[in-house]
Amino acid sequence: MEDRIKRNREAIKPKWTDLYKTNTAKKQGKERPEQFKSVPGAKKIDLLKVFPNIIRKTLQEVIASRRSLRSYSDINLSFEELSYLLWETCRVESFRENAVFRTIPTAGATNSMETYVFINKVQDIEKGIYLYIQESHSLALIDNDDLIDENVNEGLLKQLRGAALVFFFTSVPFRTEYKYDFCAHKMIAIEAGHACQNLSLAAEAIDSGVCAICAYDQEKLDKILKLDGEEHFTIYCATVGKK
Ligand SMILES: Cc1cc2nc3c(=O)[nH]c(=O)nc-3n(C[C@H](O)[C@H](O)[C@H](O)COP(=O)(O)O)c2cc1C
Repeated sequence: MEDRIKRNREAIKPKWTDLYKTNTAKKQGKERPEQFKSVPGAKKIDLLKVFPNIIRKTLQEVIASRRSLRSYSDINLSFEELSYLLWETCRVESFRENAVFRTIPTAGATNSMETYVFINKVQDIEKGIYLYIQESHSLALIDNDDLIDENVNEGLLKQLRGAALVFFFTSVPFRTEYKYDFCAHKMIAIEAGHACQNLSLAAEAIDSGVCAICAYDQEKLDKILKLDGEEHFTIYCATVGKK
């Protein structure tokens, strides 16, 4: 096997027992990383927390109907549907100084992930890139440039496909490295997978579908989301739209 492949495989099979001997940032007493990203001064939108118009489907129904969807109707999502998808995918149930509890599991409650959304077709919301503010279930506007859909489409290597929304799951790796050092990276990737699965199932509940996307242009997307690409970068995307 080639060395470069072997090296990459190491990231998904770290030797956990070596962690006990590793002088992690936490053991060194370094400052704890921030738990949530904030955007001071940004325009904020509070999302809904109750969803009277979302038709209840059983877990069996949503699992059975889930398929990657790459062709979307032109129907806009409602504000309630947007709120619902973020609520089920990303919401924070509770947190304390050293632990965050979300709808998805997060390794050692370290919460390495942030979520950005490109809103393309949602009733009553301006098109643009938003950060999901986890601890308050709200959105902060990051960018509403006129060329934003073209740029997002380029960043997704032409896979926007007229989607109503794009979720960008991003990682702040030091939040997990702080405690888990070289074991962190596998768990960071798995965490994004948990989020995308919640999104896929929640989308089925509103007669929508999702396409997970890993084939994207790393540098372009990080630039669109205004991330530095080192301490904070995109790791997984998902387009969402009505069937
Ligand atoms: C980690 C991951 C990355 C993926 N990346 C892409 C992608 O970049 N573009 C795409 O069209 N589909 C992508 N997919 C979707 C898969 O192609 C799809 O899940 C697969 O064909 C099985 O189809 P199903 O989801 O309908 O079961 C990805 C799926 C996963 C789990």
